[in-house]
Amino acid sequence: MEILEIQEKVHDESKQGEAFSPFKVDPNLYKKRFYIESYGCAMNFSDSEIVASILNTEGFGATKRFEEADLVLLNTCSIREKAEQTVRKRLTEFRKTKNKKPGMLIGVLGCMAERLKTKLLEEEKLVDLVVGPDAYRSLPSLIEETDGGQKSVNVLLSRDETYADISPVRLNSNGICAFISIMRGCNNMCSFCVVPFTRGRERSRDAHSIIAEANDLYNRGFREVTLLGQNVDSYNWIDESNGETITFAKLLEKVAKVSPDMRIRFSTSHPKDITDEVLYTMAKYENICKYIHLPVQSGSSRILQLMNRTYSREWYIAKVDRIKEIMPDCSISADIIAGFCTETEEDHQDTLSIMEYSKYDYSYMFFYSERPGTLAEKRYKDDIPEETKRRRLQEIIEVQNRLSKESNLLDIDKTFKVLIEGESKKNNKDWKGRNSQNKVLIFPKENYSLNAGDYVMVKVDECTQGTLLGKIVNE
Ligand code: 5AD
Ligand code: SF4
Repeated sequence: MEILEIQEKVHDESKQGEAFSPFKVDPNLYKKRFYIESYGCAMNFSDSEIVASILNTEGFGATKRFEEADLVLLNTCSIREKAEQTVRKRLTEFRKTKNKKPGMLIGVLGCMAERLKTKLLEEEKLVDLVVGPDAYRSLPSLIEETDGGQKSVNVLLSRDETYADISPVRLNSNGICAFISIMRGCNNMCSFCVVPFTRGRERSRDAHSIIAEANDLYNRGFREVTLLGQNVDSYNWIDESNGETITFAKLLEKVAKVSPDMRIRFSTSHPKDITDEVLYTMAKYENICKYIHLPVQSGSSRILQLMNRTYSREWYIAKVDRIKEIMPDCSISADIIAGFCTETEEDHQDTLSIMEYSKYDYSYMFFYSERPGTLAEKRYKDDIPEETKRRRLQEIIEVQNRLSKESNLLDIDKTFKVLIEGESKKNNKDWKGRNSQNKVLIFPKENYSLNAGDYVMVKVDECTQGTLLGKIVNE
């Protein structure tokens, strides 16, 4: 799925399942409490912010502790089997609390809700509510039904729901960076992927509402927005008032113009859809970050064809060349799957060599996990032994670790404009921020009077595999 899985970004399974507490609750404002936990991709985290907004208007305030919640929600992911197992474990934990507190409602939202539908109610007897990704507006009425002792389900997928008019409540926000969802669903049919089935058809959100959200965030002190979609390059929205077609490149430009002081990122791009127009727009605006997440999935044209990615190894390589030609300083990251059906050692070597060619600064690496209902499940045998999958994945990880380190070493002595996101977790005398290329920089605060949200020039003098270390310079 062409979308960041929550980082830091997103995309890191070790970070899945963090519970987010939104904001301080005024006890007089809200009659009830909800607790929400999000798993999987950035889109899910962004959806939880929409859910929080809907629940606030219904008199539910957020709590950090699920034990004290009247409503416990899990916003779930189905992308790999492991993600579903984690959620099932968590549901069992909630069951214990519910046994002591029978009034507590437990709901499953997101992709697992969509995939398993009423099965979740039958199998996991503790679930009261099952709500798919396009049905969050019906949460208030579903909660009312469940309060009456019924189980409730709404897993209808929509062709036009984009939640455009709902102002998300920023959960777990650092007050500097925010996600803006620009589209929903996916029309690609990558054979390994369950997303087209769980999130439905692709639809683009009203561009005016996106710009308004970006403006609002800027006015509230945010300095970085990430435009989110499963495949942002196919964003396409027609302004009925003047007949103008807004492509992703046009949208990027409009968001970039909100303020030169606000950074724009986006995810995820599909190699078949990212256009020169997008690349030139990125190059034109300093505040559009020079970073592209460009999932390759495999380096073998034969496997790419079985995956239904609709590009070949050569096409992908030409895309990487084009990016570097237009923006020599642009960093690239990828998603990679090891051990897809029929993958030979030679195919695997092709993956390793395309990584070397593309010099990814970072990758999100997985081994293939067969998902029920997908094209691959129907058409191909999941025939690579787990041991082989794991060994190949390990080799991919080793190559990536080396590439990340090599890329960071090349940054030593360079000076970057860094957006300060907050204090370093390890040391409150240091700041943490990122450069345009999405690399994390840590540097001493010294005696400068700076705040989160400020830009500062930092010269790199050391690095680890994942971080650049430097010092503030006056330039
Ligand atoms: N097995 C393993 N990885 C998968 N992804 C998507 N579906 C599967 C699957 N069935 C990976 C892809 C995608 C990322 C978000 O998750 O690499 O880009
Ligand atoms: Fe991404 Fe392909 Fe899945 Fe769509 S079908 S979400 S493009 S991996």
